[in-house]
Order: sequence, then C-alpha cells, then structure tokens
Amino acid sequence: MWNRVEETVKYLKGKGIKDVDFGIVLGSGLGNLTSKIECLVKIPYDEIPNFPVSTVEGHSGELYYGKLGGKLVLAMKGRFHYYEGWSIQETVFPIRVMKLLGIDQLIVSNASGGVEADFKVGDIMIISDHINMIPEHPLRGKNDERFGPRFVDMHEPYSLKMIAKAEEVAASLDIPLKKGIYLALQGPTFETPAEYKMVKLMGANAVGMSTVPEVIVAKHMGMDCFGISVITDLGVEGQIEAVSHEEVQKVAKIAEKVVGKLVEGFVKVY
Ligand code: HPA
Repeated sequence: MWNRVEETVKYLKGKGIKDVDFGIVLGSGLGNLTSKIECLVKIPYDEIPNFPVSTVEGHSGELYYGKLGGKLVLAMKGRFHYYEGWSIQETVFPIRVMKLLGIDQLIVSNASGGVEADFKVGDIMIISDHINMIPEHPLRGKNDERFGPRFVDMHEPYSLKMIAKAEEVAASLDIPLKKGIYLALQGPTFETPAEYKMVKLMGANAVGMSTVPEVIVAKHMGMDCFGISVITDLGVEGQIEAVSHEEVQKVAKIAEKVVGKLVEGFVKVY
C-alpha cells in the first residue's frame, strides 16, 4: 500500500499539487461545491495511477486542486463506497494519498437519513462523532507504522476546534446547524423502519453509507477531521417515506449552496 500511495503522490506532485491546506471529500449531490474552487488543476480519477474509479451516478470522479476562501484545497468530487465492491482499503486510498501530500486537515461531507423527530429534510448536521457498523475495518491486518500506530486513539474523531470554528462561521452567515452522531452501515439498501429504529437506539442521529472509513484512516495518520452531513430523508417512526438515490441527490443539491458557503467561510478563517 505504501508504495502505491507514494507512486500516486509522485504523480500528483508532478501535476503541481502541493502546499495543500485542506483535503475535501464531497458526498452525494455535493459535488458541485467544486464550482466554488478557483481551479488550478483538475484530474479525472481514471488518469490517476492506482485510484479506483467511482461507479455511482452523481459521483463523477474528479480531483480538483485550487483556491477556496484564499486557501489551497484538494477536493474529491466523487468518493469510493464499500457497497460498490471496493475493498475497504481501496475506499480509503485517496485519504492516504492526501496525508502523504502533506495534508493534515480533512473535511468530509455526505448525505444521510436523520432519525431525530426535530430534524427536517435539508438540515445540515455537523458530525460530532460516529459509530462504525461497516463490516470491514480499514485498519484490519498488518499495521504499517509509517502511516500510523497499531491502536489508534479515537477520543476526538472530529476536531472540536474545527467544530467550534464552523459553528462560529455558521452563526455569522445565519446558517442554522444541527449537530449529531453519524452511523455508517454498508448499504446499498436504505434502512427498513426497524433498522432506522436500531440506529436511533444505538445512539446515533443520522445514518449513511460512507465517511467513517475515511475518518478512521485519517485519524490513523494523525489528521484533524471535520464532517458535514446533509439530512436528505427521515427515518423517524411514523414519518418514514419511500427514499431513492434521486431524492437524496435532489435534496443534497438544494443544500449544496449553503454547505458551500459554510465550507468556504470555514476554510477562509480556520
Ligand atoms: N440511509 C442510508 N444512507 C443514506 C440515507 C439513508 O436514509 N440517506 C442518504 N444516504
């Protein structure tokens, strides 16, 4: 893995990607946040050595390097999900690459189903913590100490400093925020009513199919993480309606502008 990551890093450095302040992973329906980036380099995933190529509609697969809020960012438009069939190590490969490019701060975003009665479709939830229920762990197997330690501290998976700054920025921009715990299931089915109930009983506020593996390996490598989840549907008893990928994307698209403002405002001052 180390050699493959190094090879990819060498390729990206050759394209002029360096001195990056923030890595950004854009989730379902949030890919057009890249339009806010003053783009210096854009590379389709299929041109990047060792990069998996994403297959889901709405996750087109391009790496954007450029300026956002006066900072240098490297943004992934399209991520790799475990349910697509990638090994869990493949899904987190780009995060390994980000770290070896010198990135220490990661911003992750996703769409999720909210399980709280006071959540509304379209709400933006800051991720305060997560529960990993994806059946394969990205750190299982022989540990490569060059990436990080065998046993990883997870007492602050999402940086409290980043959360506090984002809340400050959101307040100044009049952006209402929810805050909560994100639980990752493997998907690709959306949850049954009983499963949404389980998610709530387990102590989470929203459920999705991504993000957690990326944050785990980011923490393995000592990165600070900040997560934003757009609540695209509700798994609240008595209010559960049919949900589709199209609906998820439609809601995320609507929230995208606000998420973009928040991310831009955040990176500017952090
Ligand atoms: N469940 C799982 N993943 C999701 C959901 C959901 O309700 N909404 C968006 N992604």
